[in-house]
Amino acid sequence: MTTGRLPDIFSMAADIARQAHAKDGDTYDHGCRMQPVCNLLANRLGFGAEDIEKIGVCAMLHDVGKSALPEDILFKPGRLDAAEYRQMMEHTSSGHAMLRDLGHPWLDCAADAALHHHERFDGGGYPHGIAGLMIPQPARIIAVADVYDALRSERPYKPALEHEQAVKLILYGDDRTNPSHFDPAVLAAFEMSAPAIRQLYEAPAGPD
Ligand SMILES: [Fe+2]
Ligand SMILES: [Fe+2]
Repeated sequence: MTTGRLPDIFSMAADIARQAHAKDGDTYDHGCRMQPVCNLLANRLGFGAEDIEKIGVCAMLHDVGKSALPEDILFKPGRLDAAEYRQMMEHTSSGHAMLRDLGHPWLDCAADAALHHHERFDGGGYPHGIAGLMIPQPARIIAVADVYDALRSERPYKPALEHEQAVKLILYGDDRTNPSHFDPAVLAAFEMSAPAIRQLYEAPAGPD
């Protein structure tokens, strides 16, 4: 029975996220938003309770490798140039290196998810350009939630999209994003979970 170990892994993961993102509250907040979205998607995909929680932990930690980036890239207010973007891509392998060999199978899963969350289902992603079911399933789930969160977030060079616009763009694509980037099963789960995801982003904050 592994359930008794769950509180340990949650506090381990939270400590890792807090330490990694100590100087980067935006990336910390991004990981915190991704966790419940990926929980919803994993639930819709039929995972059991423990795997749903594991995928949420993978989501929380997927960008910890960004803490290895120079601050002028991490905090650049505009779009990255080509050389900076190549450096940014390394957050996948940095995250893998930070999370592997920490002695917990969920963190091994998180290491793989960190490595592969920018792979695309059609093989056009990075760092390895692997495709389809070769991409670990948590990474395929995170990939969809990651794009949704980026679209819903304001940047110095772009406004935040409304929920409907973000969902439509993920399901039907635009000049940068194409549904072929994503696992069709995860896309279907995303479409069915869209009302619940909207609530996560738009529910009024409760009393302190
Ligand atoms: Fe990332
Ligand atoms: Fe991300």
